Amino acid sequence: MSFTMRLYVHQYILLLSVLAHCDVCFKCSFESSCECTLNTTINLISAKCSGRGLLAIPYFCNSSILLDSFDGSYNKIERIPNYIFRSAKNLRHLDLSHNSISLLLPESFQGLEELVTLNLESNSLKYNIDIIPPDCFKSTPQLRYLNLKSNVGYYSSTQKYPSLSSLSELEILKLDGLPRDSFDRGFNELSKLTYMDLSSKDCDIGIIQSRFFQYTPNLRYIDISHCKVTKVWKNTFSGLKNLTYLNVSYNENLKFDGIENITYDLQFTSIEVLKFNKVHETFAMNSEIGRHTLKYLQHTKLRELHMDSNRLQNVKSGVVSMLPKTLNRLSMADNMLTFGQYILEGRNMNISVLNVSFQFTSHNPVLESTDRYESNFKAKRIKRAFRVNFPLPFPTNLREVHSRGSQLQFDIPRLELMENRLEYYDASLNLLSHWRGPLLNFLHLKFLNLSSNYCSNISSYFFKGTEKLEKLHINNNLLGFSIQFDVDGQILKPLKSLQIIDFSQNRIPFLPPLFFAFLERLEVLKLYDNLFEDIDFRLTQMKNLSLIDLSRNRIQFLGYVAIGQLESVARDHMLSLDLSENPFICSCASLKFLKWMTETKVILLNRENYSCKYENGTKTLLLNVNNIYNKLKKDCSSYPVIIIGITGAIFVSVSIVCFGLFYRYRWKLRYIFYMTKNRFRGYVPVIDHANKTYLYDAFISYAEQDCGFVHNDVIKNLEGEGNLKLCLHKRDFLPGNEIAANITSAIHNSRKTVVILSPHYLASNWCRFEFNMAKMESMYTRENENILFMVFLTNVPPRELPLMMMEFIDSNSYIEYPDDEFGNVVFWQKMLEAVSA
Ligand SMILES: *[C@@H]1O[C@H](CO)[C@@H](O)[C@H](O)[C@H]1NC(C)=O
Ligand SMILES: *[C@@H]1O[C@H](CO)[C@@H](O)[C@H](O)[C@H]1NC(C)=O
Ligand SMILES: *[C@@H]1O[C@H](CO)[C@@H](O)[C@H](O)[C@H]1NC(C)=O
Ligand SMILES: *[C@@H]1O[C@H](CO)[C@@H](O)[C@H](O)[C@H]1NC(C)=O
Ligand SMILES: *[C@@H]1O[C@H](CO)[C@@H](O)[C@H](O)[C@H]1NC(C)=O
Ligand SMILES: *[C@@H]1O[C@H](CO)[C@@H](O)[C@H](O)[C@H]1NC(C)=O
Ligand SMILES: *[C@@H]1O[C@H](CO)[C@@H](O)[C@H](O)[C@H]1NC(C)=O
Ligand SMILES: *[C@@H]1O[C@H](CO)[C@@H](O)[C@H](O)[C@H]1NC(C)=O
Ligand SMILES: *[C@@H]1O[C@H](CO)[C@@H](O)[C@H](O)[C@H]1NC(C)=O
Ligand SMILES: *[C@@H]1O[C@H](CO)[C@@H](O)[C@H](O)[C@H]1NC(C)=O
Ligand SMILES: *[C@@H]1O[C@H](CO)[C@@H](O)[C@H](O)[C@H]1NC(C)=O
Ligand SMILES: *[C@@H]1O[C@H](CO)[C@@H](O)[C@H](O)[C@H]1NC(C)=O
Repeated sequence: MSFTMRLYVHQYILLLSVLAHCDVCFKCSFESSCECTLNTTINLISAKCSGRGLLAIPYFCNSSILLDSFDGSYNKIERIPNYIFRSAKNLRHLDLSHNSISLLLPESFQGLEELVTLNLESNSLKYNIDIIPPDCFKSTPQLRYLNLKSNVGYYSSTQKYPSLSSLSELEILKLDGLPRDSFDRGFNELSKLTYMDLSSKDCDIGIIQSRFFQYTPNLRYIDISHCKVTKVWKNTFSGLKNLTYLNVSYNENLKFDGIENITYDLQFTSIEVLKFNKVHETFAMNSEIGRHTLKYLQHTKLRELHMDSNRLQNVKSGVVSMLPKTLNRLSMADNMLTFGQYILEGRNMNISVLNVSFQFTSHNPVLESTDRYESNFKAKRIKRAFRVNFPLPFPTNLREVHSRGSQLQFDIPRLELMENRLEYYDASLNLLSHWRGPLLNFLHLKFLNLSSNYCSNISSYFFKGTEKLEKLHINNNLLGFSIQFDVDGQILKPLKSLQIIDFSQNRIPFLPPLFFAFLERLEVLKLYDNLFEDIDFRLTQMKNLSLIDLSRNRIQFLGYVAIGQLESVARDHMLSLDLSENPFICSCASLKFLKWMTETKVILLNRENYSCKYENGTKTLLLNVNNIYNKLKKDCSSYPVIIIGITGAIFVSVSIVCFGLFYRYRWKLRYIFYMTKNRFRGYVPVIDHANKTYLYDAFISYAEQDCGFVHNDVIKNLEGEGNLKLCLHKRDFLPGNEIAANITSAIHNSRKTVVILSPHYLASNWCRFEFNMAKMESMYTRENENILFMVFLTNVPPRELPLMMMEFIDSNSYIEYPDDEFGNVVFWQKMLEAVSA
């Protein structure tokens, strides 16, 4: 570029930058629906016009001088007019794939002198001289990459490979493989062509004859997969001395027999990678690989061999040991491998990566094949509980083994390997449902994937010989059933180097506190999709812990043990915690947890998706935890006040009621109390209530001050003349007994109770007690028979009488003491009658 041109470029860029929505990308001036990007290192523009519905290539005008690349894929462009790119002198990359271009013109690419890559894949460019004129590429001498794949459509047999002899710089060529044609003499000019990809949906080669690659001797990379190849003649590849990569996969009619001619040729090449995946029909008979197929490879420098999806069931003995020692990577996935001699031979191989995944997988007959053969062979799978008590031979260089989804179905027994370097083992998606172990001498194992094995039982010594393990993936099993019982962390104890552990999807309800106690180097702990409600296992010993995934559990809120540990870990370094999809609650119980969320240093992942449920059932996103916390705190702090208030009120009213009841029934209670007490002491004589015989005829209840009257008159008149037996407390109470008990006992044992009423009587507490006890006796023991008899010794004014006595006097008998000669006679008579009645 000249100096003036650069200057102009700068001005132009400045102008565009003003319009741009960012400093380097903007709407292209030639087509506003396209997006242009300025590459500042070369000061040129890339235009992206992919999928804009363009019907034609835009008219570039004078701005196209700045174009470095133009992506016009996935449009509806139908033609490339002559001279359209004339001024795009700097264009290096042109992508017109996935359009409807059906014709190239001799001057279509005129002016593209710098063009390096041209992609015309998936158009309608038939391989004819009329459609792709021999001269059309003459103006692109720098072209190194040309893609003309998926163009020929159905009638490929009438077409011929286009003439590309002017592209002397071409290195990579992608074409549709044609039947009955080979690369003509013109290809001899393409001395730099090393990469040939003929595979496509339109590729249909059929038989490859020896002269096919005759004029392209420099090829290093050939892909003829998906090309309906049925036969390959000998000497097709033998001239390609530099061939290192050959892919003949997905030619289902080739079979292992067809491979034989290929491997024969390859011994004369520099082959390093050979792929013949699926050269058998999906529903063909089970196959066996024989010596002839692979024997010629033993003198090659083969590094990689892929023979997936070949219904391979057995490898003939001797074949494995024939493979070259350079072989590093062997893939035999998606076959039907069973046990056989070849496994033992395998120990001498020098491979480091082995892929034996997906054995015995089912295939969909409708989707995958039209020809269908019934398998007449019943496969015997690796499926039994076997025991091995000796070290197993193992290829010494083997580092990586993939046996994912291979229908391995047994309990993992004690397994001891001979000398080995196994670092990576994927045995996921099998049915290894009981991990008994121990795994011994797995000295280099760093990665172990045993996920999705339906394992419910793991022994405490399973990992005994795998001390170097760094990554353990045992998600999607049923380990929750057995690891709960590992109270002292024995299972994981040997794994001192473990950095990542994945225990998710294991139905674990809880883990014992010391379960991870020996994992000091752990960095990532995945426990998502389990049944945890809280966590209380120890984490603080994990000095490098940086991620805990607890999403999709049943955590309502974390308790103080969990919070304390998380804080302690997060104090020293960054700790992330994923708690999404847990059923949090927003209630007074979770208040501490919500507060912790507002102030913690722990990074809560996916925080925007946490939600919680109020007690009234409404759910809310925990976006503004602070607000929710403050509101909840207020609601909850009024709680204790209310609770105390209510409890207090209840207490007071209960007390009042009790007191009331007690007061109301105080006499009854006392009566019952003393009666019970007396009965308990055993000195209540058995009284025959029915026959009305009592120990005493009457108990005289009187005040101390009135003892004169009682001792002189009452005793004389009632005991002496009336011949009654009286009970007087002074005389008849059992000494040493409680007065109250004596009183109740006396009242109980007397037919009547005579009350000598006087102002003294009313003033005496004991007297009132006697009166009330007598009342109780009459009410509760004597079926309401009146046993009380009142004597008014002196005139007591009615207002001085207690209410209870008034009531009694109103409804019951009483007499007044007359205190005169004549009256006294009548009085004592009445008295005698009343007492003995
Ligand atoms: C700019 O162009 C140079 C040279 O072609 C290339 O290496 C670089 O990746 C381009 N930068 C961008 C951002 O495309
Ligand atoms: C492009 O060319 C036209 C005339 O063909 C001219 O008017 C215009 O200024 C040119 N644009 C730039 C950016 O130089
Ligand atoms: C193979 O490649 C080497 C360089 O890598 C080259 O010198 C030699 O000419 C090539 N041989 C053939 C037959 O193309
Ligand atoms: C080999 O061919 C198959 C089938 O087309 C393809 O899937 C695979 O990617 C090819 N291998 C490589 C390394 O390109
Ligand atoms: C192997 O090549 C020879 C010709 O060299 C051919 O006749 C034969 O059919 C080929 N075999 C297979 C199985 O393609
Ligand atoms: C065995 O493989 C290793 C790499 O995995 C390689 O370095 C070594 O050369 C191979 N041994 C032989 C004898 O080819
Ligand atoms: C193993 O083979 C299967 C089937 O071809 C493939 O899907 C998988 O990616 C391979 N694994 C590795 C690690 O190459
Ligand atoms: C472990 O295996 C499972 C199932 O095959 C797979 O989905 C997962 O990605 C693997 N994990 C790792 C870390 O490779
Ligand atoms: C696990 O297996 C052992 C040994 O077979 C057995 O004793 C134990 O009960 C099993 N545990 C569970 C949880 O099934
Ligand atoms: C923690 O990580 C650092 C850096 O990766 C490492 O040096 C240190 O040994 C680790 N500590 C533990 C206890 O694993
Ligand atoms: C949050 O939830 C929405 C809807 O449920 C989902 O689309 C989004 O991916 C989630 N975001 C994260 C980070 O999980
Ligand atoms: C439930 O309670 C929350 C907080 O107390 C309140 O914001 C919400 O409106 C309530 N929802 C209903 C339906 O009462």
